Amino acid sequence: MNKRIYLSVPHMGPEEEGFVREAFASNWLSTVGPNLNAFEEEFATRLGRPAVALGSGTAAMHLGLRLLGVGPGDEVFVSTLTFVASVNPIRYLGATPVLLDSDRATWNLDPERLADALKAKAAKGKLPKAVIVVHLYGQSADMDPILDACRRYEVPVFEDAAEALGTLYKGKPAGSMGVVSAFSFNGNKIITTTGGGMLASSKKEWVDKARFWSTQARDPGVAYEHTEVGYNYRLSNVLAGIGRGQLKVLEERVRQRRAVAFAYRDAFADLPGIELMPQAGYGLHTNWLSVFLVDSAKFGGTRDDILRALEPENIEARPVWKPMHLQPLYASAERFGGEVAEDLFARGICLPSSSSLSPDEQGRVIELVRKCARVSGRGP
Ligand SMILES: Cc1ncc(COP(=O)(O)O)c(C=O)c1O
Repeated sequence: MNKRIYLSVPHMGPEEEGFVREAFASNWLSTVGPNLNAFEEEFATRLGRPAVALGSGTAAMHLGLRLLGVGPGDEVFVSTLTFVASVNPIRYLGATPVLLDSDRATWNLDPERLADALKAKAAKGKLPKAVIVVHLYGQSADMDPILDACRRYEVPVFEDAAEALGTLYKGKPAGSMGVVSAFSFNGNKIITTTGGGMLASSKKEWVDKARFWSTQARDPGVAYEHTEVGYNYRLSNVLAGIGRGQLKVLEERVRQRRAVAFAYRDAFADLPGIELMPQAGYGLHTNWLSVFLVDSAKFGGTRDDILRALEPENIEARPVWKPMHLQPLYASAERFGGEVAEDLFARGICLPSSSSLSPDEQGRVIELVRKCARVSGRGP
């Protein structure tokens, strides 16, 4: 059996181990230490705003929503096409998600749909407490019209940039435009701390507050005194060391991920009915995952035919995120549209996308996808 090709695996650079060794040598092995401070500073310098390192992107979503004052009785707008961790933290706080459809041109939150939904809610006198904008698969949402609409109704914007570290929108980093933002360093992301996340905000006092909450909200003083509810959400100094090394190779990883996506695109250029997800002209799409849309009428085979061809050959691929309104958990949520997200889910496929993917491995994937077209009699 061929060696398994995974969807997206960690890819260490030359420096991570050194930072981890330093943590061991100095015995800074818990949730305080020099790697943590340096990781936050280095991250903040890149992003242009302060940041706090946390145990996961989901923790960053949770604390970000709490900073925005989200609580029981509130509604929060969020794209229906996303991973469930964009939405669950709304529920952690007792609030209610309202699901919005995607824009076909970007696959992200549709600015027109958002403007209509805000208008409809304003007419009823119940605006959402926040709008979560998810930047999917390494592509920024079209932020200008989104920020304009939210400004008009004075609703704050929370960027879920878990999949979009290194992504740019009109020269600005994803996660630097809303009042608060969340990043993930999960093992499958463009860089990883094995597991981890970052919360960033334009308000330094919010970042400090999140840091306080992330370490059990312990008040100053020797006694373990607490006046607010806190969490055990801090990243460890060991993992922050991995993060420091990974940050140094971020640009290289972006180049490599884009190269993987464009190599697939070029290899499928002569096949009808299989297209790389849109690359909006306004920014830098990292192509964290190489995602393709299959039009079976032209391609011959379906998206599922490709999945079925890859798995027995020990190649991991998966459908585009299942929209939240199709999930048992969120089927009853209020929503504005959803047809675009449903279509992308039905026809979209994420192919192996690791920055360490070798040309030979990529060749195996390409050959099998091309065979799916050939089997149907449509391929060359
Ligand atoms: C869009 C999105 N939001 C949030 C998260 C949560 O991040 P984490 O896995 O680090 O908790 C992820 C990834 O896992 C994600 O893809």
